[in-house]
Amino acid sequence: MNPLQPYYDTIGQMKEKGLYTPVRVLESRQGPWFTIDGKKLLNFCSNNYLGFAQDKRLVAAVIQAVKQYGVGPGAVRPISGNLALHMKAEAALATFKGAEAAFLLPGGFIANIVAIATIVGKEDIVISDELNHASIIDAIKLAQVKNKFIYKHSDMAELELRLIEATKAAEIPKADGTKPIILVVSDGVFSMDGDIAPLPQIVRLAKKYGAVTMVDDAHGEGVLGEGRGIAHHFALQGQLDIEVGTLSKAFGVLGGVITGKKELIEWYRQKGRPYLFSTGLSVADSAAIIEGVNILSQSSSLVKKLWDNAAYLREELQKLGFDTGRTETPITPVMLGDENLAKDFSTKLFTLGVFATPIKFPMVALGKARIRVMPSAAHTKRDLDFGLSAFAKVGKELGVIL
Ligand SMILES: Cc1ncc(COP(=O)(O)O)c(C=O)c1O
Repeated sequence: MNPLQPYYDTIGQMKEKGLYTPVRVLESRQGPWFTIDGKKLLNFCSNNYLGFAQDKRLVAAVIQAVKQYGVGPGAVRPISGNLALHMKAEAALATFKGAEAAFLLPGGFIANIVAIATIVGKEDIVISDELNHASIIDAIKLAQVKNKFIYKHSDMAELELRLIEATKAAEIPKADGTKPIILVVSDGVFSMDGDIAPLPQIVRLAKKYGAVTMVDDAHGEGVLGEGRGIAHHFALQGQLDIEVGTLSKAFGVLGGVITGKKELIEWYRQKGRPYLFSTGLSVADSAAIIEGVNILSQSSSLVKKLWDNAAYLREELQKLGFDTGRTETPITPVMLGDENLAKDFSTKLFTLGVFATPIKFPMVALGKARIRVMPSAAHTKRDLDFGLSAFAKVGKELGVIL
């Protein structure tokens, strides 16, 4: 038998249980409306929070940069691919976020890998929220950390207990005689539920026990703190040791960023393997990031529009009788529970002209399937109303609401 056959057999079972993920093909721009299978659909599930993925100003900046510099860096940055545009984008991000230094990588997933696996190893200790993003979980695995403590989601009493245990474990020095690092890591905005981590308490507790703090602000970049992220939202600038963000959501392109003290970023530049052994961002991504930062530095009107749209959408969904979970941000989950129900809901929305994919295991726990609605600053009120009327119709048809 083909040794890979068991995997292929599993696919059939995944289809039966509603756990198979078919991937649709976009035939137009990633805007508030787009085309799939020749059908115009309301886009209700992108991470393009500010509409930057199709913003004319970013497009113009990219065209100009590509004409001037070409398309790709041609080598890993430490060899011969370190573009002036990379450095300019990093400087712009550091200033915008009020950090000493910024370090750009080709995506948020990679940025989390670099941020974690370059500072902790086998003998160090990591304390992580149970709902942290997959990239954080994988980074901890890659770092081969033996002492992992997982605390209940945003439960600060449990975080303190884990810090006490970690402090005890850290009394045993590492083989080289140094003290193990204790790293506390949390998502800033939890991507599937939209709630915000209690960062001031996390920072306070971590400081009390001498731990290093890291936040993954993927869904806070361009969204929280007038676009400057979660540290600004909580007035914690300079208090977090490591901030990771992504440019692949609100900034509309591709990229991950680590911000922190100059020495930390220098360490990452010397030791971060995905930086040393993988090519940096394209010209287009770098130019778009610079323009995105430029726009947000001048005005937070798009961020305000996003939040206004999010508030309207959430209120109206709740009025209809939907359960939107514990969100505090534009991420608007419509909780459905059953995986097949979520799949059917999404299919019916599609026939009514609304594109909103079901979110199910392994993205969330089994039995916690949902449709995660994502409003953007590019949606008009009419767009939102169109989507809401489809949700009302399908919700009634499937008995989710009365
Ligand atoms: C919380 C969180 N962290 C990291 C990432 C990865 O970001 P990127 O798409 O830039 O690799 C995501 C994206 O899904 C995310 O939601």
